[in-house]
Amino acid sequence: MMENNQAIGIFDSGLGGLTVIRELLKALPNENIVYFGDTARVPYGNKSKKTISRFSIENADFLIKHKVKIIVVACNTSCSLSLNLLKKKYKVPVVGVIEPAVRKAVERSRGLRVGVIGTRGTIKSNVYNQALKRINKRIKIFSKSCPLFVPLIEEDWINDDITLNIGRRYLSELKKREIDTLILACTHYPLLMKAIRKIMGREVELINSAEEVAGHVKELLELSGGLRGAKQKGRCLFYVSDEPAQFVKVGGKFLGRKISCVRKV
Ligand code: DGL
Repeated sequence: MMENNQAIGIFDSGLGGLTVIRELLKALPNENIVYFGDTARVPYGNKSKKTISRFSIENADFLIKHKVKIIVVACNTSCSLSLNLLKKKYKVPVVGVIEPAVRKAVERSRGLRVGVIGTRGTIKSNVYNQALKRINKRIKIFSKSCPLFVPLIEEDWINDDITLNIGRRYLSELKKREIDTLILACTHYPLLMKAIRKIMGREVELINSAEEVAGHVKELLELSGGLRGAKQKGRCLFYVSDEPAQFVKVGGKFLGRKISCVRKV
């Protein structure tokens, strides 16, 4: 049984997971949230399964020390490479971003031609493909890793021609394949929504995994009676593993509001 007043714990390789918090705050404004961003060891996108599994366990252990009632793994790379391990290891529910996004993609896809973009680790793991195929074997999946997107977004070159050109190059193959749905399988990509829509065209459905996981967490807390009282406004505590200055500066864009109360651990 969940303790209603305990916080939702969430971790990411850095500040990208703030896009998930942004959606969680919309869906569950009364919940307390403890966020851990592993800013000292970011990026996770190019690292091995062994390394990511070790980092993910350390991050989850940190959240468990804060007595969280549920752990949300915001990082797609961590989910792809270590979610099953985490689910087995902890007593509290561990929720990833993959299943909710995949379910939505299958629901929305008209022609069962689905694209997936993410980091090298996420795409190489093939986990999105497996999850999609589990729901519908007939789905045609086209994936592409877009490793330059993360640094471009962190550089705040979101509405820049350079980003648009790089996006065109990454996405041209998926466009040729005439996908009808595209899963943004990386914490950072919701910030590129406008650029990606411009490149892919309005008729391609974009699936924001951050939005989908927030809905899933809400459902889970409702079902298990773990929601916090409706009158209380929630609080967010942010922890990072390196200097908080950059996290505070860039993170506001991801969160959609100013960040305060960041502690280095
Ligand atoms: N958070 C990572 C993800 O969603 C992107 C950034 C990184 O490579 O660490 O896969």
